Amino acid sequence: MKGIILAGGEGTRLRPTTLVTNKHLLPVYNKPMIFYPITTLVSAGITEIMIVTGVNHKEDFLEVLKDGSEFGAKFTYGLQEKPGGIAQALGLCKEFAGNEKILVILGDNVVEDNIKSVVENFQHQEKGAKIFLSEVDNPKSYGVAEIEGEKIVNIEEKPESPKTNLAVIGLYMYDAQVWDIITDLKPSGRGELEITDVNNNYIQKGEMTYEKLTGFWGDAGESFDSMLDTANYLAKK
Ligand code: DAU
Repeated sequence: MKGIILAGGEGTRLRPTTLVTNKHLLPVYNKPMIFYPITTLVSAGITEIMIVTGVNHKEDFLEVLKDGSEFGAKFTYGLQEKPGGIAQALGLCKEFAGNEKILVILGDNVVEDNIKSVVENFQHQEKGAKIFLSEVDNPKSYGVAEIEGEKIVNIEEKPESPKTNLAVIGLYMYDAQVWDIITDLKPSGRGELEITDVNNNYIQKGEMTYEKLTGFWGDAGESFDSMLDTANYLAKK
């Protein structure tokens, strides 16, 4: 299974700090933000990793991360020239992934749980996708999952009136069907190819499963406040 870290986008919400370097290289407590998703992948046994960056300070990634050997990994880099959405950034990784299943993580997500056993189980799952959910106080800011019993029935992206407090975090596992799904996507109202549309496609086919996280989850790149909350949690730990 191959790993993908999506670190595109322009980081406009974190200006002026993103004038200094790329959002994903800003410090969150004692490490650059992207070190956390790298650790999540490597701890899950995934070491062949493609990192998609945006144009903003793109050279800084190479300087900090190099070829990946310092993390026990091998990095391949891709460039998303314009922030056309998470699913558009993912689409750039098709050749890298080949026919293998993939684990995708957003470059600003900090996940405390070790997901190694979930990843191993997914390797044996015949087909489909798996997402990770986390209970949050502010579901309006995220993709929100609607659950019926053990089944996930729909995801709404940043809904006005969330049906649950279960955020879909930026960690996704897909089989190779994902590439055709992305090819058929239409841009959303905000002009982006949405990862939530990819996930709803798997749900409609009855091929989506989920796992609830129990440990801390932080969307460190969402705002200065979420970055501070995440840093404070890590510092106390
Ligand atoms: O963090 C979890 C949330 O991430 C999910 O709950 C939402 O369903 C999902 O849409 C996403 O929402 P955000 O508003 O947090 O996405 P944002 O635009 O902040 O992008 C998050 C990361 O995705 C960003 O750090 C880099 C990557 N990205 C994003 C865009 C728009 C790209 O690589 N390219 C892009 O074009």
